[in-house]
Amino acid sequence: MSTSVETATLAPDYVRRLAPYVPGKPVDELARELGLDPATIVKLASNENPRGPSPRAIAAIAAAAGDITRYPDGNGFALKAALAARYDVDAEQIVLGNGSNDVLELVTHAFLRPGDEAVYAQHAFAVYPLATQARGATGVEVPARSFGHDLAAMRAAITPRTRVVFVANPNNPTGTWLPPAAVQAFVASVPRDVIVVLDEAYNEYLAPAEQANATAWLAEFPHLVVSRSFSKAYGLAALRVGYGVTAPAVADLLNRVRQPFNVNSLAQAAAIAALADDAYVEESRALNAAGIVQLTAGLGKLGRRVLPSHGNFLLVHVGDAADVYQRLLRRGVIVRPVANYGLPEYLRVTVGLPAENRRFLDALAIALTR
Ligand SMILES: Cc1ncc(COP(=O)(O)O)c(C=O)c1O
Repeated sequence: MSTSVETATLAPDYVRRLAPYVPGKPVDELARELGLDPATIVKLASNENPRGPSPRAIAAIAAAAGDITRYPDGNGFALKAALAARYDVDAEQIVLGNGSNDVLELVTHAFLRPGDEAVYAQHAFAVYPLATQARGATGVEVPARSFGHDLAAMRAAITPRTRVVFVANPNNPTGTWLPPAAVQAFVASVPRDVIVVLDEAYNEYLAPAEQANATAWLAEFPHLVVSRSFSKAYGLAALRVGYGVTAPAVADLLNRVRQPFNVNSLAQAAAIAALADDAYVEESRALNAAGIVQLTAGLGKLGRRVLPSHGNFLLVHVGDAADVYQRLLRRGVIVRPVANYGLPEYLRVTVGLPAENRRFLDALAIALTR
């Protein structure tokens, strides 16, 4: 009996051609590779909140830990109720995801077939092309304007075959941001048989005046899916919890293709607690703003071009980024190369604590001169 399977014939061509998502390098992996003490390594590679989670979230996890022999609430009643109250929508408009990544996948699962098209911007979040290709659909990448989304060109790229459009606001890895009025006008211009995913994973890092309040648009736009995350400003990346808010009919379809228990009970409990901790989010936003100033100034002193960022990360021009990335690793600093985004001369650095930012700047100064 053969022990191997004929993947060439078993899996569709578009699955075999998928290039797996490359995550930020884990601290323990670098520690193993270089024989370093993990405690000495600084990871600024995955846009996580450097503060650690809200104490309220940790307490909620501890309280929920005794009940993990039971399956979680597959409908996420309490978390949906909290989100519905917060954003003044009905619980039936909410879809919970195993991270907001899951929400993006659910949209492609529900709406894309081979032959369909999904539109997204050049340099936009890597999961859009991946999730599109995994469905055998065709990704239509629209050239960026000043590194950001060119909404007029994206509108022009919509054809009768288009079923989904992805808009990241702010975008990762460029940190670019679109004013709410421009996004709203774009959504209004898109035919109602095309789903617009407005990916707001970094929304809470925006200054309140910059935040779009896009859930309030849903009454007008039945084709809009607003996607948000607990991984970034809420500090819960490891728990994998995010959500989509949309029209009830769209939420119903997304829930049909969702795994029954896609968000675990600890994640649900922690997310409810984190959502209520406004002070934590506010402090995180302030810490991030200060870190952006610190990093921008430090990188400026090193003569580096930095893109203005509305997220919790910066894109910095370093030249031979693959080489500088390796040099930084050897100094125990993990950042993110973004050649896979068509940006081979840039590195993306997540805003860390002030001392972590300093470590990165010092390591970069040396890496750039050797
Ligand atoms: C723009 C954007 N959207 C979505 C995600 C997915 O985040 P998560 O699945 O942790 O919610 C990320 C993560 O980096 C992101 O940068």
